[in-house]
Amino acid sequence: MSTTATSALNERFVPPVEETMDTKSDPEAAYQNLLERLCSAAVNKRYEAFRDIDWDAPEMQVSADDPRWELAKDHPLGATEWYQSQPDEVRSSIGLNLIAGFCYTGRIFEGILSRGLLRFAATQPHNSLEYRFAYHEVIEEAHHSLMFQEFVNRSGMPVPTITSEFIENSSRVAEFGTSFPAMLFIYALGGEDPIDYIQREGHSKESIGHPLNELISKIHITEEARHVAFARSYLSLNVPKLSEEKLHELSLAAPTILGTLSKMMMQPPEHIIATYNIPAEVIDEAFVNNPAHSNTVVASLAKVRKLCEKLGLMNDEAIKIWRENGLLPE
Ligand SMILES: [Fe+2]
Ligand SMILES: [Fe+2]
Repeated sequence: MSTTATSALNERFVPPVEETMDTKSDPEAAYQNLLERLCSAAVNKRYEAFRDIDWDAPEMQVSADDPRWELAKDHPLGATEWYQSQPDEVRSSIGLNLIAGFCYTGRIFEGILSRGLLRFAATQPHNSLEYRFAYHEVIEEAHHSLMFQEFVNRSGMPVPTITSEFIENSSRVAEFGTSFPAMLFIYALGGEDPIDYIQREGHSKESIGHPLNELISKIHITEEARHVAFARSYLSLNVPKLSEEKLHELSLAAPTILGTLSKMMMQPPEHIIATYNIPAEVIDEAFVNNPAHSNTVVASLAKVRKLCEKLGLMNDEAIKIWRENGLLPE
């Protein structure tokens, strides 16, 4: 195993603290200052999928019958009697397939976001730090996508096929990079906040188990903290400048985007349900009518919800959509 991977694993992982804008100074200056810090961190603390992960090291090998892939008892599906009654190899295979599915969803999300960021960057003037950081983010997302896809490849697990309808819809999201960047950054937070929450929870409970998964999560958490800081700060500075009409449009779209993405990130995709014949009532027990899971979804979006409140995006009509999507605390 390479020394890079070994030392990374031996380090006691401390999740990065999210960078925030200095609210006491002029907002534009604070934003530029934050972008400078993010650009510098993107140079000094960065990872590459095929340089910093020793994919061929013996301890990094992935095998579907490895019990370390089994879902923990506090996982919504892992807690069900149905899951507990499955044979050992099925339990570990489901756990691995869920992580592979999560990686695949992550790389699709990142591909769409990156297309949007490239469009956003294209509209920026010379010397723009937004241009520079958007490119740093695209580079980081590209390495995340490479590492997620490599994990999927090595897992040998089936992942869903992308439909042409999905590709068409995703192009519309990417277009927001030029037509309505605030919408793109809400989309960014809708995917990044839930992924980040799940990965940080995994680290804090030390329940990740396999060193490859642990390293992937560590790399991802470190770099996503920058992306989340960029999206939040862009929104904090620019949403107050939107017209009434655009503000209203954003307020209604936000809970729809956040609801769709958090489901994609936190529930098993259809193909996994079909592959393992997971009964509908088990899915219901684990995800649909499970107060603990609902609380996790709400908690994973707590930061973006507070941001939406602060930015005046929580009018009555919007709150109704937040509630319908199960995104508000009871
Ligand atoms: Fe990422
Ligand atoms: Fe990201």
